Amino acid sequence: MQPMTELEAESVRDYYRRFAELEAADTSPVYTEWAQGIGEDEALIDLLLDLPRPKRQANLLFAAARHLGAGNGSFAELRSWLLDHWEETRALMLARSTQTNEAGRCAVLLPALAAIDGPISLIEVGASAGLCLYPDRYSYEYRSESGTIRLDPADGPSPAVLSCEFLGSEPPTRIPEVAWRAGIDLNPLDIADPDEREWLRSLVWPEHDARRERLSAAAGIVETDPPRLISGDLCDRIEPLIAEAPSDSQIVVFHSAVLAYLDAPRREEFAAIMRAHPEVVWLSNEGAGVLPETGVQLEARGVDPDGRFVLSVNGIATALTGPHGQSYEELERS
Ligand SMILES: C[S@@+](CC[C@H](N)C(=O)[O-])C[C@H]1O[C@@H](n2cnc3c(N)ncnc32)[C@H](O)[C@@H]1O
Repeated sequence: MQPMTELEAESVRDYYRRFAELEAADTSPVYTEWAQGIGEDEALIDLLLDLPRPKRQANLLFAAARHLGAGNGSFAELRSWLLDHWEETRALMLARSTQTNEAGRCAVLLPALAAIDGPISLIEVGASAGLCLYPDRYSYEYRSESGTIRLDPADGPSPAVLSCEFLGSEPPTRIPEVAWRAGIDLNPLDIADPDEREWLRSLVWPEHDARRERLSAAAGIVETDPPRLISGDLCDRIEPLIAEAPSDSQIVVFHSAVLAYLDAPRREEFAAIMRAHPEVVWLSNEGAGVLPETGVQLEARGVDPDGRFVLSVNGIATALTGPHGQSYEELERS
């Protein structure tokens, strides 16, 4: 039998190789080279093994290194920088987590939100800094075969423009009124805090300049009217927040890129809470299979999500969405 550390080293090596191949290859040459390099580097793998398992993630390591000044150079440069700055990198990895906040995801929530009459109360679980709680403050450009539809907030064009490739019957034609908003997160981030804002920037992959620009524009909007963010676990905190939302509005609970952080029983617990509130509209924008019932629905319809998220409305899969909100493909109703 192999000793435990050797098995663990092998799994870290495999994880970094897979990260390079499956997650980074199409979208980040820098992270692809870095992850490939780490997958072959005994010294760096030994350092990673000294961290608790959830802290060995590539996204966390690379964001921490860039946050501390490693730059976006070659793997050889990263390696030498990490060996020189391991203590501070390690401390940052232990203190922080991957909380990427992508305002662009509002573009794939809007079709469902725009279909609701009257004012809405928005509750986001797993809100990070709460940038997705402001779908009424962004401008949108939906590009489809029949042209581009532009939507602006009631008080005029927003500095944050969310662009989305739309494949479906009709892109949204209105931005709903948000009467009330609040979020829950294990570790809410304060977008007005320069270090937290910089951490969110470091989480955006090196080549994704448009996403960094969007983050700055959205942060500028949100810091002038910061959201109410409650610290705690989403399963424990959701019921009181639903009870608190104004009853003369349509309550919408949503989450995006969050439930993967929960284990399977806790995901089911959250889904059961939502099913017990038929008066609430529940929007889930998560990786395919994160909610087992949406995975089953896709399989039954023979739909291949091809790396995209699944948007479901009250438990029914309605669209495949680009993970950063860059595309929306409506699913046919079964
Ligand atoms: C990848 S971020 C996504 C943020 C935001 N929803 C978005 O789409 O931009 C996931 C967030 O979920 C939060 N989170 C993870 N597990 C949670 C839990 N059990 N309860 C509350 N928040 C949680 C994390 O702290 C993190 O801020």
